[in-house]
This record gives sequence, C-alpha cells and structure tokens, in this order.
Amino acid sequence: MDDPIVADNKSVPVELKAGDEYYFCTCGKSSNQPFCDGSHKGGAFAPKAFVAKEDGEAYLCKCKQTGNAPFCDGSHAQIPDAHVGKAFSLPQKTNAQALPPCFSVIIYLSRPFRRLHGLGIIWTRVVQVDALP
Ligand code: FES
Repeated sequence: MDDPIVADNKSVPVELKAGDEYYFCTCGKSSNQPFCDGSHKGGAFAPKAFVAKEDGEAYLCKCKQTGNAPFCDGSHAQIPDAHVGKAFSLPQKTNAQALPPCFSVIIYLSRPFRRLHGLGIIWTRVVQVDALP
C-alpha cells in the first residue's frame, strides 16, 4: 500500500459540532487539512467519515500516522521536519512491540527459566538414556 503524505508533523485544533458528519483526509494530499477535499481520487486512500460525539475543540491528525484516526495520538512526535510534505509511514510495530508492557516484563523475566527448561530437557534425555537396559 502507498504511504500517505505527511501534511504536517503536528495536529490541528478544530471545532466540531455534535452530530455533524466530517470526512477526515487519510491521504495527506488535501489542501483543506485535516478534512478531505477529494484529492485522494485515483489513489489507494479514501476519506474516513466520522460523526462528532460532542461540541467543542478536537485535535485532529495531520501527520496521517495516528492509530486513532481522525484524532491525534502523539505519533507525529516521531516524524522529523524533513518528512513533511513527503510520502512516509512509521515502521510497523512487531508483535512484541504491540504487546502491553506487562507482557513484555513477563517475557523478559521468564528468559532464565527458559534456559532452565532447556537444561531440564537435556537432563531428562540423559536420565532416559541411562535408564535403558
Ligand atoms: S498529528 Fe498527531 S498523530 Fe498525527
């Protein structure tokens, strides 16, 4: 899939009205950021429709890397100024990176026991060989 254009490496505050439908630009080409102006046509992207749940200001994503579109999730902090206006995607998270932090700690703490488990398998095989008639 194509990378979106980084329209900016910061979010933009917009006033939303509860119940109104908006079309968030996902391609980054719109000149009406963060909203769609139809520039995506002919490409791999489509606007993301959303309905505002409440009146008020919301910070919408302009970097097109958020994991919570259309809202900013802070991902823009990883994008250098040099990528603004260019096609770009942050590296995909691996499964280990996608795990909640508590699972990473459990995996880290279990490493020594995995080695012990390996020794246990070797010991068991030695005992089994010794036990053969
Ligand atoms: S602008 Fe903040 S995550 Fe895209």
